[in-house]
Order: sequence, then structure tokens, then C-alpha cells
Amino acid sequence: MITLQEKPKMKRVSKKEWNTLESTKFEKIHTEIFSDADEASKIVAHEIAALIRYKTEKNEKCVLGLATGSSPIRVYKELIRLHQQEGLSFQNVVSFNLDEYYGLDKEDVQSYIYFMHHHLFDHVDILPENINIPNGKVPFEYMSEACTQYEEKIESYGGLDFQLLGIGRTGHIGFNEPGSKINSLTRMITLDHLTIQDNAFAFNSMSEVPTKAVTMGVGTIMKARRVVILAWGMKKSEIVKKTVEGEISSDVPATFLQEHNDVSFVMDESAALDLTRIQTPWIVGDCDWTEALKRKAVVWLSQKVKKPILKLTDRDYNDHGMSEILGEGGSYAVNIKMFNHFQHTITGWPGGKPKADDSHRPERATPERKRVIIFSPHPDDDVISMGGTFLRLVEQGHEVHVAYQTSGNIAVADHEAYRFAEFAKQLYEYTAGEQADHQLFEGLFKQLKSKAKKEVLPEDIRKIKGLIRRGEAISACRYYGIPDSQVHHMDLPFYETGRVEKSPLGKADIKMIKDLIEEVKPHQIYAAGDLADPHGTHEVCLKGIFAALEELKVEKFMKDCWVWLYRGAWHEFPIDEIEMAVPISPEELMKKRVAIWRHQSQKDGVVFQGEDDREFWQRSEDRNRATAAEYDALGLPEYEAIEGFVRYHFQ
Ligand code: F6R
Repeated sequence: MITLQEKPKMKRVSKKEWNTLESTKFEKIHTEIFSDADEASKIVAHEIAALIRYKTEKNEKCVLGLATGSSPIRVYKELIRLHQQEGLSFQNVVSFNLDEYYGLDKEDVQSYIYFMHHHLFDHVDILPENINIPNGKVPFEYMSEACTQYEEKIESYGGLDFQLLGIGRTGHIGFNEPGSKINSLTRMITLDHLTIQDNAFAFNSMSEVPTKAVTMGVGTIMKARRVVILAWGMKKSEIVKKTVEGEISSDVPATFLQEHNDVSFVMDESAALDLTRIQTPWIVGDCDWTEALKRKAVVWLSQKVKKPILKLTDRDYNDHGMSEILGEGGSYAVNIKMFNHFQHTITGWPGGKPKADDSHRPERATPERKRVIIFSPHPDDDVISMGGTFLRLVEQGHEVHVAYQTSGNIAVADHEAYRFAEFAKQLYEYTAGEQADHQLFEGLFKQLKSKAKKEVLPEDIRKIKGLIRRGEAISACRYYGIPDSQVHHMDLPFYETGRVEKSPLGKADIKMIKDLIEEVKPHQIYAAGDLADPHGTHEVCLKGIFAALEELKVEKFMKDCWVWLYRGAWHEFPIDEIEMAVPISPEELMKKRVAIWRHQSQKDGVVFQGEDDREFWQRSEDRNRATAAEYDALGLPEYEAIEGFVRYHFQ
């Protein structure tokens, strides 16, 4: 169950405090877990600001090691605010950036020098001569000398006072990829394949990502007097665990930080998910046994000892630090209770079963015919993530609306736009016949053919790309049998930047969501609660829905509205959190596949493939089958596939 709650004010956990906690016994790096990345970033920015001020008072230079990537952006944002509104001056700051792509310079929008100016330097009063970034344009034969000079320059300022870091999924810090040594210094390095995939979103394709970079070494970083490393989001949870709890090894260069005497790993809850104290707290000590935690522990135990729930014994519970949850009735009573819980999550009637006793069903029986809005962040998440449930809702007679929150235009390849524009031109010339103005499409084709690197996708091209996705979405909805009038293309403004980086959620976005909810007055809302989307669009779309619900919750019709969260292409809810599990038959799965195929621009090699080579329909099927297999292994019925949902309580 997810509820909208006031977040408690966040505060830091000192290293001393962290050391005394029983729950951190597997951790070898001081970790600080925050519920919100924005707030955590501000806290880090304030630490940096305090250091700058302290050094200014002492009339000393403040030597900062800075990072690029998505992780530090919010820290820089807060530093800019502190400069603009609270008089923080950067005049005494000398900065050294960690790294730069080889071959790129400040004109290239993907270069780190461009990034730093865009996200920080252009907005504060740092002196240009105090900015140092490895030069990616030094000819190969002079690179080693340039790297030595970089090291010497850092030394000439007395070393780094503070080093800010992000972490790559390979475990890199800077661009020190696996294999890097603890004493490595600034040098040229070949990027890992995974890093190239992760960074491809900033380029047009993976083949355009430079394969080499210049980076400070692990040794350079280790010499910094203070290190703060950041990680946000579930995508980082695996590498966070390896770094914090694993053995020191050059296979995961970030583990060398375990040897540093003043390092803090600042992360949000999603990035911390795999840490032992979060994942399996019963292993590290006493825990607060909420019902949710008991469910998590029982699923874990069943998977660990490879037994269905009803076969777990007292001994299994005792051996795994879970004896506390055994009450008077022992394992027998706990097993039955848990089994019933999971059984009651399963329903073939996602809109409620008419005229049935619904006391143990996830959804209400009435009203029999519900109005439903499926919010889909991109024009395909609806079918990819909940295509089976979507189909059942339609076939069971509910009034299903689909709201595509964003146009999804930047994820369409240029060649697709070209092909469609050519088609439109030919169709126009055919219909206009002799009257056809052959120059009409000229400007458009000039833009389409232009090979110049575009930081911002021109509006006309965006339009074509958006229309392509609209057409695909309508086609999929028609295949499922919903009328065009129930398909809503919202094109929320926050998304329309023409670049991967989006604007923050604005009032206009929230209003559009609110207006649609007011118009439809739904009994059910489905929303993507998928926070692992690499570009953050899902997160903004969800925040927009939450904000709209917050404003609408006083309305009478909202008393009848239930909100269900589904997860996107990237991962499923853990089974213990699922509150509604909708089975999908083999035939339905096939239909779902066809609906996903209707999104042709996202098939056969997409612009943002990510690290997963599978196509969306494959990821989706694998995931739904895996959920079904997990249910099966718990001793519940065996289905072909299952889609999982969690209810969001906003009242
Ligand atoms: C950036 C850098 C890299 C990034 C890392 C994480 O200067 O050296 O180590 O910190 O790749 O990138 P994000 O923050 O984009 O996840």
C-alpha cells in the first residue's frame, strides 16, 4: 500500500552514529539513505557551500573535484540557488573535473565541459581561470603528458579538499572502469560497453558515444580529503550493494573507497534497496515486524529454502532469523495467513467481479461497469506494462479511456520521420494533382536531411515524430476495441523540450491531468509507478498525477475512485508488494504482443534501447511469465503470465 504522506524532515546520519547501528554491520562505507533525492542533493550542496565559506574566511582556495552525469545535477542546482539568493561566492573556488570524453570539446553538447558550463559554471561567479577539465582534444601522442600536468596542477593547489562523485553501473568512479588500480592516476581509458550503453541517451545512438575518455585515476580521487559519492534510483541499487558491502576489488573500482577515511555514500531509498539492512533486515538484527515486512520475509524465506509457503516449517523460520514472527500457532498459522493473503491478490476481474462477494477481492463488485483511465507516460506503456489487464477491462465491458501523457517524440528515429514525411509529400502531390506546390515540403526536408548536430530537436521534426507515435497508439487501441474518442493525447508541456533533458513538472501539466480526471470521473485510475525509467519521464508523469489527485481529493466523485499503480518495461513490483495480480492466458498474451507490435517505431532497434537487447514485447512477456512463476513457486496456481498492481491511497 502506498499513501501520500508528509515526509519527515531529513537529517544526516553521522559516521559515528552509523557506526553504532546494528543494522549497518555489513556496510564498509558510511552510507546515508534519504527518502528524497532532491532533499539529499540540497544537503550535499550545503556541505560544499559550508566548505567554500570556511575557506573564504580563512582566505584560502577551496579545491573542488567535480563530476558530471545525472547524479550531481540537483546538487549544482542548489549551489546556483545559494549563489543567486544567499550570496555564496565561488571566487575562491578552484575546480577540477573528473573526466572528459576523448575527442569532444566545448562545442559538443555532449562534452563534459559543455555540461559543466550549462549546469553550473555559467550561473555562478567562479573565475574562468580556476576551472579545470581534462582536455579531450589533446592529440593522442601528447595525452600522457597532459595527464601528468593535470595531476601536477591538482597537487600545486595542495590537493582536492572535496571530491563529488557519481557511480556508474560498472562500479566506475570518474571513468575508472573495472580493472582500474587503486593507485591509478589521470590517464586515457577505454569505456566499458555498459557505460557506452548507459550514456548513449545523450548521443543519437550508441555508435556515436566516444569509446575513450580521459579520467582522473582512482589514486587521484583517493587523495581527496573528503569524498561524497551519490546514487539515485533503483538502477544503481545493485552496484551500490557491491560497493558498500562487497570485497575490495578492481572489478568494482568504487570499492576502493572503502579504504578512504572520510567518505560518505549519499543515496535515495531506491538506490539503497539491495543493501542487506533494507532487503533483509531480519538478518542484521531486530526489526519492526509490520505486516508488509512479514510478507516480504516469508516470500524471501520460501525462495531461499525453495519451498512453497505451506511447506515452511518452524525450523525454517528459526534458522533464518524470523522466529519472532511465529506466534502461538507457529509456522502453520503464519503459512496459512500468508498463503491466503497472496491467493486473495489474484483476480481475473481487474474491474471487480459483478454480483460476487468482494470481501476478499482486490476490487469492488460495484459499480459493475466502471469508468477507467489508464495513464500511460509514453504512447506504449499502457500495452507494454498492463496490456493483459487493459484487454480484460475492455472485454469485461468497462468504459476504458487511455491518456498518453507525453508525445514520446524524441524516441522516434530520424529515418522514421523521413519516411513518413516522404509519404505525406507523395500523398499530398497525388491528391493535389496539378495544383501541387512542389516547394511546400522543401523546408521540412532540409531540416530532415541536415546532418548538423542538433541540441534541440526542431519543432517540425518533433511534430512528425509525435504524430507517428499517435498513430501507433490509436492503432493499438483500435485493436483492443476502444473508440478513438476514449484515446486522449495529452502531450504534456514538460516533455516538449526537444531534448532528453525535460522541464520540471509545471502547473499546466497538472491542470491538464486534473481536467481529464474531472471530465471522465473515473472509478479506477491506472498510473505508471515505474520509477526506474532511465530518463525520469515516468517519475514526472506520476508526480503530475499525484499532484492532481491531491487537488481533486475533496471532490465527491473521487470518493469512488481507486488508483492502481503498474510498473513499466523495466521491472515489476516485488511479489510481496503486489495487491492485485491479474492472470493472463496464453491467448491474451498473444494479443498483448500484437498490441505492442503496433508501436512500430519502438520495435526492431529503438533509439533508447538501454542495456537490454530484448524488444519491449519480449521484456514484457518475460517479466509477466516470471511473476507467474514466482506465484507458482509460492504454491499458488500456475498461470501463463501475471501483471501486478499496487494500490495508491490518496484520500
Ligand atoms: C561523471 C563520471 C561518471 C558518472 C557515472 C554516473 O563525471 O565520471 O563516473 O558519475 O557514470 O553517471 P550518472 O550520474 O549519469 O548516473
